[in-house]
Parts: sequence; structure tokens; C-alpha cells
Amino acid sequence: MQIRYPVLILLTFISLFTFAQKYPGLAPTPPMGWNSWNIFHCDIDEAKIKQMADAMDTNGMKNAGYQYVVIDDCWQVSRDKDGYVIADPVRFPSGIKALADYIHSKGLKFGIYSCAGLLTCQKRPGGAGYEDKDAQRYAEWGVDYLKYDWCNSKGMDSKVQYSRMRDALHKAGRPIVFSLCEWGSTKPWKWADTVGHLWRTTGDIRPRFEQHHGVLALFDAQSKIRKYNQPDAWNDPDMLEVGNTGLSYTESKAHFTLWCMMAAPLMSGNDLRAMNPDILKTLTNKLAISVDQDKLGLQCFLWKKQKGIEAWVKPLSDGNLAVCFLNRGNDTRSLDFNMQAVLTDPDFKKTYTIDANYTIFDIWNKREIGTTAKNVTTTIAGHDVLFVLLKKK
Ligand code: GAL
Repeated sequence: MQIRYPVLILLTFISLFTFAQKYPGLAPTPPMGWNSWNIFHCDIDEAKIKQMADAMDTNGMKNAGYQYVVIDDCWQVSRDKDGYVIADPVRFPSGIKALADYIHSKGLKFGIYSCAGLLTCQKRPGGAGYEDKDAQRYAEWGVDYLKYDWCNSKGMDSKVQYSRMRDALHKAGRPIVFSLCEWGSTKPWKWADTVGHLWRTTGDIRPRFEQHHGVLALFDAQSKIRKYNQPDAWNDPDMLEVGNTGLSYTESKAHFTLWCMMAAPLMSGNDLRAMNPDILKTLTNKLAISVDQDKLGLQCFLWKKQKGIEAWVKPLSDGNLAVCFLNRGNDTRSLDFNMQAVLTDPDFKKTYTIDANYTIFDIWNKREIGTTAKNVTTTIAGHDVLFVLLKKK
């Protein structure tokens, strides 16, 4: 049958329209899960990943909202003669599909890692030129989440490369959350909202509070682009180091608080099998998580700096407000803070009036500590936070 010219134009138009889209609505709130990189780097295998899924299933994390179990770099070794990627047969002898099935059987979702360049950062096969074949495999295996890196991409255009993978995922027909990991190098917040569901805003996090690539540095970098954060299109200041060597318990708690205040993806990055109970309580505090997961998806803004303590505010969809008082210093500082104010969101220009009629609930200590009728007076240790919810009475 001869296809007429106008029909061809129409078909091309329809396919362009269909593929020039990410799967919408897969990340209405910031994705939550666990990723292997921060704690294990390349030392991963199927037994370990299953143990993480078991832990997440039984330790309260699944119940608190964590759902993706993501294997990062090093699961892949080569490609077969047809160009399909091959998983490490020694470390993943049962294959990736079996692992995905196991994770799904726990009521969790499965994520995988690759790279938009020629090779991954650990020199495993990259996706460039193999987008369709990789996406097809991911769909067959039951992948729910793809983290896509940017190593070995010299001379490539990030928007073009990531869009290719987006289109391949769309063609493969399985809804997969698409996580862009080009470290903020080409300002994805300006172009990636139609490409992926989240994008890294910085280089890799290091397990430290201060200094280059520490918790505060990433928080500060992302604060400058808060206006781009929104449902289904998240700024990603990298995965959590909560519970990892390099951060004290206090610093882990502050780190988690700042990520909740930013409405950041919450991808835990510690060993879930051997967690200190305080760290587990931090990762599973439901009120903290509800601040992160609030459906408005607003990233916090700075309210005020007072005597070495910063007050950050995150407006919530029910009209309440989350406030984080942050002590960046090493020494304990005292706080005597008048909560009544009219605040203006610097990017969206919306104003919020805090009158005397709010109760103040301490999220970490799980108790009411007063109302906005009086000043908040307390002390905050070095690198610690006071994380509160202001609830309209
Ligand atoms: C980096 C990425 C890390 C991790 C690593 C794996 O580029 O930012 O999160 O995925 O590659 O090699």
C-alpha cells in the first residue's frame, strides 16, 4: 500500500510529539530509596543488593516511603555481539531480571545506572549509541528508575544525549524515572524538566559537613536555583551520606534536615544492614519526611540570619510552615528568636504571615515547644539544627 505524503508528515509529527516527552507524573514528590554508590562504590553483588532490599522492607524504611533500590556503577562488564549490555556474571550470576523480580517481590522498585557518554565513570560500557538497546533491556528487566551519568562525554551535547535516552525509554514502553547526573555542569535546571524527573545540581557529595562538596556546600549551591524545583522535575543535591563515616550523628541529622527542607530526593547511601538505631530513626522520621514530600515541592528560602544562626523556611501545602534553624559554626550558639513576621518568598514573591497563632513542634524531639506568641529561646550545638513545624492553631 502506498502511504501518501500528508499521512507520512502526520505520522512523523505524531511520533515526534509522542517521544519528545518524558513519562509524566512518575515523581510527583522527590524520589526516595537507596543507592549503592556512597557506601560500596564498585563492591556490589546480587547478595548484597538483596540484603539491602530485605533491610528496607523490614526496618521501617519502606513503611516511611523509601521505594527504589538502585545499583550504581560497576554492575555491567561489556556488550554482546548484538550490542546488548552484559551484567557481571560473577557478581550478578542470576542476572539483573532476577534481581529486579526479587526487589519487586518485596513491594519495592528497582533502579539501575548507566552513562550518557561512551563509558561510565568506572569505565564500564556507556550508553552513547546504544540507547534503544539499553532502554529495551531495562524495560524487559523491569527497571523502574535510571540514573544516567556524564563521564566520557567529551564533545557531546548534554541536552541531545539525555533526550536520546529519554526518547529510547519512551519507545521501550515502560515508565522509568529518569535521573540525570551531569553534576549541574550544563545547568539542567534550565532545560531538563521535559527530559528527566530529577537532575544533579552539583558534583559528588563527600561525607563531611564543611569544605568542598560537603553537606553545607551542596546546600548553598542548590539554594541559588530553588525556583526551578517543582513536582516531577527536581533539583538533586546528590544522595545522602546520613550514617556514613565522616559525619557525626548530629551532622547526619542536620544533613537530613537540610535535604528535607530543600524537597530533595532522599536516596539513602549507607549500609542498611548495620545501622545505628539513631540513624534509622533519622531516616524514618515521618514528620521530617512529610516536609520533604510535601506536594507543593517548594525548596526552602532564607528567612533571616541572627547571631550566627540561620532560619530557613519551607511553606507547605496545608498552610503550615517548616522552619530550620541552622548553626553552621562549631560552637554552641543561643537563639532568642521572634517568630512573628511577614515573609516574602524571594523567587515567587508570595508572602506568608506568621502571627501569634501557631504552635511550634520540634520534629526531632517529637514534642511541642511553645507557640509563636513568644520568642523561641534555646541553644543549638555546633553543626546542629532545630527543625520545627509551625502549625496554625
Ligand atoms: C559519578 C556520580 C556518582 C556515581 C559515580 C559512579 O559521576 O556522580 O554519583 O554514580 O559516578 O562511577
